[in-house]
Amino acid sequence: MKDVMQLVERRKQEFARLPLCQFLEDETIDPRQRLAWAPCLAPFALGFGDLNKYALRHEPTDDPIQQLINRHTYEDDHHWVWFLEDLEKLGLDLSLKFSDAMRFFWGNQTYKTRQVCQQIAMATYGKEPIVVLAAIEAIEATGNVVLSRTAKAAEELRRITQQNYRYFGQHHFCVETGHAMGTDDVEDLLETIELNETQRSQAYELVELVFDVFTDCLNELMDSMTQQRAESPYAKSGQKILEMQRQEEKVSDMPELERV
Ligand SMILES: [Fe+2]
Repeated sequence: MKDVMQLVERRKQEFARLPLCQFLEDETIDPRQRLAWAPCLAPFALGFGDLNKYALRHEPTDDPIQQLINRHTYEDDHHWVWFLEDLEKLGLDLSLKFSDAMRFFWGNQTYKTRQVCQQIAMATYGKEPIVVLAAIEAIEATGNVVLSRTAKAAEELRRITQQNYRYFGQHHFCVETGHAMGTDDVEDLLETIELNETQRSQAYELVELVFDVFTDCLNELMDSMTQQRAESPYAKSGQKILEMQRQEEKVSDMPELERV
């Protein structure tokens, strides 16, 4: 497993150089602005609970690695509650018509973010627990990169608003160790596990997939920022996104000739 962990570390370094990560680090930008993409993360933040509960967790099991994974999923399956709490604290809990909220949630602008949990669920389906554990290590590495940066922005904001942000702030960052949780010294355990050829190639493939889907997600979130302003980010981006969505719907409703 050691070489798989080295791949995770290499991809983690690349991941930390993505534009959204640099944007989050930029202290010259208002911390509210740096977190203004938060509503666009909703498909991932909520879907991640399901991924843990219904795709990664398998009970009952005698397999010690699956038991470790199961313990990990109990830690990670409810963080979406903190996410919804933070949306409100960030002033991003805007009221929308239900159908508009669905357009936003299932629109083209959040497609890559929606894909993260779906792709991971499909790629891990039926794989041996040890291979799935490699995917979890990759997921945790991406979480560590993003949460370490959102925690700094949330801390700046906390000094202004006196609010604690449980999802984007220190609370979440401290809970997530950057590795599979629920077992002491998991890093040492991972180093000692020997993989056979098939397991190694599947683990490599899964690690690459995890970083690829999260990279697409972060780039999509960064794109959403081009439509936002600090004062009322979701209002601006949400409205803009819905306008674009409606435009697209109108275009696809038109007969072929009119579109030309
Ligand atoms: Fe989490």
